[in-house]
Amino acid sequence: MWSTVNLGVADVLWALLALSFLVAFCAHKISTYLPRKYETCRFYVLFQDLIRYGKTKQNLKRDEWLRVFDVPKRWFWHFYAVSVGWNGLLLGLYVNVTFRNQSYPSWLTGILDILTDVPNPDSQVPQLSTLLVQLLLCLHSLRRLLECLLVSVFSDGAIHLVQYVFGLGYYVVLGLTVLCADRLGKGTGTLFSQLDWFHVSGTALFIGASLLQHQSMVLLARLRTGKSGAVETLAHRVPKGGWFELVSCPHYFAELLIYISLSLLFGGLSLTWWLVVFYVLFNQALAAQLCHDLYIIKYESYPRHRKAFIPFVL
Ligand SMILES: NC(=O)c1ccc[n+]([C@@H]2O[C@H](COP(=O)([O-])OP(=O)(O)OC[C@H]3O[C@@H](n4cnc5c(N)ncnc54)[C@H](OP(=O)(O)O)[C@@H]3O)[C@@H](O)[C@H]2O)c1
Repeated sequence: MWSTVNLGVADVLWALLALSFLVAFCAHKISTYLPRKYETCRFYVLFQDLIRYGKTKQNLKRDEWLRVFDVPKRWFWHFYAVSVGWNGLLLGLYVNVTFRNQSYPSWLTGILDILTDVPNPDSQVPQLSTLLVQLLLCLHSLRRLLECLLVSVFSDGAIHLVQYVFGLGYYVVLGLTVLCADRLGKGTGTLFSQLDWFHVSGTALFIGASLLQHQSMVLLARLRTGKSGAVETLAHRVPKGGWFELVSCPHYFAELLIYISLSLLFGGLSLTWWLVVFYVLFNQALAAQLCHDLYIIKYESYPRHRKAFIPFVL
């Protein structure tokens, strides 16, 4: 069975990223049982500095020199601006290849050749899937860009320079990963004739998860604004309403659902995309756990029934 699985560079990359965040999640869980004296250990502080950002980083006791690598968290919009531009370009190029029988520019073919191994004909996805995933990825990035600029109220939280550079590269590699799933360009008949049940269910899940994420971002912003919409405080408060009644971070749960919906759009056929889903699962689980732990320590009356990330589960 394993001999039929051809792993390309993109698969290995996403698998390693998923594994790194799984290890980081487990290491964080274990570190909560360590005696307090380890909190001043250099390796512990460096590890915490790299996995935390924003509010979960504020109480981390670290040397002054480590603050040199702090980048404002309000620069989150840079990631989505890069994503809209880059993934819009890739969408345009894919449309050219699909409808105008043109080929990719040589630099893109070169990159895709490096990222993918010999494509397995059985795991090829319809062109309609690739087009929809590219389109929804652009829409997702555009919504997040507008939310960062027009909805969210940022405090003076920081992210690590490494996290910032990673975030910039993340959406570039993600767009290339979408094209990796479609190296053989399987497309028989019109796009409409390729339409399948998984395109409809994937799009429906994407819309539902996007609405949940947007609602959560609005509720977070309202914790800092008055009825007129004017910013009244930059403090962190206990989130209320919507799915915040079930989990501390419904916007992270929604992010996971969005990536699952894109996997559904691929008909569940892209191993590479499932590895992306696992990366998002472990990455967001870690961020949610850090946030949940902070709320429990900081707010005595924090609802104990709330889970961190996945309602009723985690
Ligand atoms: N796919 C990925 O790899 C990935 C990675 C990271 C994030 N994301 C997504 O990006 C989105 C944003 O993530 P994030 O980590 O920035 O979310 P976040 O820390 O919850 O911050 C979102 C906004 O809400 C504010 N906020 C957070 N908690 C608050 C509280 N208790 N009281 C008042 N305001 C609060 C934040 O302000 P501050 O300035 O004070 O923080 C920020 O403006 C999420 O939907 C997440 O899923 C995706």
